[in-house]
Order: sequence, then C-alpha cells, then structure tokens
Amino acid sequence: MSALHVVVLAAGKGSRMHSARAKVLQTLCGKPMLWHVLDAAAKLQPDQIHVVYGHLGEQVRANVARWPNPYASGLHWVLQAKQGGTGDALAHAMPHIPDGARVLVLYGDSPALSDATLQRLVAQPGFAALIAQVAQPGSLGRVTLETRERDGTRVEIITRITEAKDADAQTLALQTVNTGLLIGDASELRRHLASLKPNNSQLELYLTDVFAASAAEQHPAQAVLCADEYEGFGANDAWELAQLERYLQQRLVRALCQQGLRVADPQRVDIRGSVSHGRDVDVDVNVIFEGNNVVGDDVSIGPFTRIKDCNLGAGTVVLGHCDLDGVVTTGPCKIGPFARLRPGTELAEGVHIGNFVETKKARLGKASKANHLSYLGDAEIGAGVNIGAGTITCNYDGVNKFQTTIEDGVFVGSNSSLVAPITLGKNATIGAGSTLSKDAPANQLTVARSKATSVPGWTRPLKK
Ligand code: UD1
Ligand code: CA
Repeated sequence: MSALHVVVLAAGKGSRMHSARAKVLQTLCGKPMLWHVLDAAAKLQPDQIHVVYGHLGEQVRANVARWPNPYASGLHWVLQAKQGGTGDALAHAMPHIPDGARVLVLYGDSPALSDATLQRLVAQPGFAALIAQVAQPGSLGRVTLETRERDGTRVEIITRITEAKDADAQTLALQTVNTGLLIGDASELRRHLASLKPNNSQLELYLTDVFAASAAEQHPAQAVLCADEYEGFGANDAWELAQLERYLQQRLVRALCQQGLRVADPQRVDIRGSVSHGRDVDVDVNVIFEGNNVVGDDVSIGPFTRIKDCNLGAGTVVLGHCDLDGVVTTGPCKIGPFARLRPGTELAEGVHIGNFVETKKARLGKASKANHLSYLGDAEIGAGVNIGAGTITCNYDGVNKFQTTIEDGVFVGSNSSLVAPITLGKNATIGAGSTLSKDAPANQLTVARSKATSVPGWTRPLKK
C-alpha cells in the first residue's frame, strides 16, 4: 500500500466573509470549519497531514494548536506566503510528499463531507475527484464529463473543470460542479502542477487545470459523485456558512432521531458538540447542546434551554429556560424553569432546583430542594435539606472563596445569608431572614436577626 498524504488547503483570504477571523476558522456546529476537515482527515489515519496556511496564518496555527486530536502535534505546516491560487497552494506542499505516495486534497472551507463519501473517494485506485450535482451551481467550478467504458463498466471521467468566472454561457449552465476534493499519485500531480499557467480571469494557478492536462494524456480523472448536493458545499460567505450550519444540524439531528431521540422540531435543536442518550428522551424546541453530553433514559428537556457538558441521570426533568453547564445528576431530578446551574453542580436523585436558582460547585444530596431565588456556591449540601427562597451562600470575600456545609435534614428559612466558611449541623433550623456568620448547632433553631420593635402612638407623616 502506498503512503497516504492529506493536504488541507487553508491559506485563502476569504474576503467574502467580511470577518477579522480567517475563513477556515469560522465555526460550524460549535467548532471551526478547519477542525471538521482535520477530523475527517485524521479518521483516514494518513501517514501525514499537511496544512497549507498563509492568510491570517498565525491565527490559524494558534487555533489549531487547540484541536483535540492526537494528530495535532504531528501536523506539517506549509506556509504559502502569497496566495497564488489552489494550484499554487498544493504545489507548496508537494516537495514534502514522496513520489509513490497518494495525495488527497481537502479544502479547509468544505467541512460537510460525510465519512462514507470520503472513503469512496480514497478507495479510487487512480486519479479521481469528488463532484456534485446541484440545482444552483453559482460560483462553483463546472465539470465537463464524458462516459467511458473501463474494464467492462461505464464510468464518468472528467475532461475539464472550468471556473465560473472563466466559463462561457453553455458551460455555466452545467449543474455538475467541482467540490475541490481530489486524490491522485504524487508523481503525476507534481508533474501537472509544474506546468500550470495563470491564464485565467483571476491570474491564479488553478488546481482545477490539472484535470484537462491529465485528460490530454489519456489518463483522465474518474468522477466520484457526492451523496447529496450539499456535502461538498463550501462556505465562502456568511450566508453559505449559515446554510451549511442548517444542513449539518439536520444531519446530526437525523442521526440522533434514528437512534431514538425524540425532538419536538428537528429544525429547532442545535447540536454543537456531542450527545449520547438513552431511551425515551424528549427534547423540546430551541434546545442547544454544547460540548459533550450524556443523557440517560426518560430524561426530558424543556424549551429554550442550553445543556453544556452535562451528564443527566435517568428520569431527570429539565423545564424550560434553563442554562446547565457542567452539571451531573445521578438520578431523577427536577430542574427549572429558569435555573442556572454552573460547573461543579452535582445533584443526587430527587433534588429539585426551581426558578431563579444559581448553583456553582454545589453538591446537593438526595431529595434536597432549593425551589426559589437562591445562590448556592461552594456548597456541600446533605440529603433532605430545604433551602428557603432567597437563601444566599456568601462564599466570596472579594479575594478568596469559602465553603458552606449544610448537613442532612437542615431547614434554611427564607432570605437567609450564610456567610462562609460555615457549617449548619444536622437537622438544624435557621430562622427566616437570618444572617449567619457562625456555625449553627445540630437539631436547634438558630435565628440571627434583630428583634422587631413596635412604636406605640407613631403616626404616618402628613403631606405638607
Ligand atoms: C474552488 C475551486 C472550484 C470549486 C470550489 C469548491 C479552484 C480554482 N476552484 O473555488 O472549482 O468548485 O473550490 O468549493 O480550485 N486556498 C489556498 N491558497 C490559495 C487559494 C485558496 O490555500 O492561494 C484555499 C482556501 O483557503 C480554500 C480552498 O483553497 O480553503 C479553496 O479556495 P477558494 O478561494 O475558496 O476557491 P473557490 O473560489 O471556492
Ligand atoms: Ca471556496
């Protein structure tokens, strides 16, 4: 088997995005376009991935340093200091690829390719390119095909690819377009690249000119058709980016539904990361999943809710308008509506968190409840605890954070401030409106507020 070298072209300017961010770093489904392409490349387990970079190059390199993949440290970066076209970009990588290797070219701005299609392209023995049939060919390169007999089967071969900007009316009418992705032998590509000329409206070296050269040598590229019209689609401007986002979202949501996830509306769920889920999970409209999530059996997620890096135990119910980040529930819990749960929140079975409750680094034991208007930060809370409305753990003195410990069975009256570090002993009761800065003993009522005073004979002021 010959070595496989993947070349990702990512040096282009992307001026049509009107953004300070490099085009290939624009995000899709929560991660940069380039990461999608690199992920697809890495799955092929190639011998080497080369990334051609240039425009906003340092930004691109700094970003890819965060790409979470074992290949990240082994990427070979090829600087294309001046963007002379796609042919020039590939030519810059070729000196680093040995003769005898297979070269797969991917575009940093074409991130929607399915693994299956990529594998079909890579399985081609000779020179091959990925094409698509589209309703609106727009600015894409037009592919001129011919049908030939090859070993007794009819195959479509590419005689020429013409850029839209250089095409005559007849060629422009073609609906077969170039996705940009191709595979071929290093030696052959090297030879054709050496003879490219910038004889076109953009005065660039077009990689696409390789196809006519190859056909002229009676070794035309084989055309491999995309599974649908969008998977080879690139994103050159914000509108195409948005369309690509919707396309990929549908693909992700469909795959989840095929595994049994129930969504109220497939157009109104966004997966910006991963979701692994059990049986009978219901997701209402306008739910966003970010990062990596695990959702157990019978979980239901209400509308307008964001779930990020959560592990929700079986039977957990999240009502509408919640924001959950880094939350673990270990059994059926009830959360929301309007709750904000931040990293380090761990809820045992039967916990209820109600409206306008914020938690951070807070662990609540079995069946404990904080149903209204609270802030619980750096708190270890036992089982069967009732946190009254308006309870605040005062965990921060402006410099340091301190821990609050609330033991099993405690009842905290409404509107209490617990000044940490502090411990409320088992089954303690805290009177409403207390500001406690010392530990409360177990099994007792502790009240920390000034006594009510009444003024006999007092009258309300009269209007002057
Ligand atoms: C290219 C193809 C077109 C195809 C389309 C598919 C050519 C000449 N045209 O057009 O046939 O239909 O993609 O999306 O190949 N790049 C570099 N260095 C450069 C120029 C570009 O690295 O000097 C990179 C870009 O970052 C991008 C990719 O190559 O990732 C494609 O370049 P772009 O300018 O977007 O080409 P298109 O006009 O879209
Ligand atoms: Ca493009």
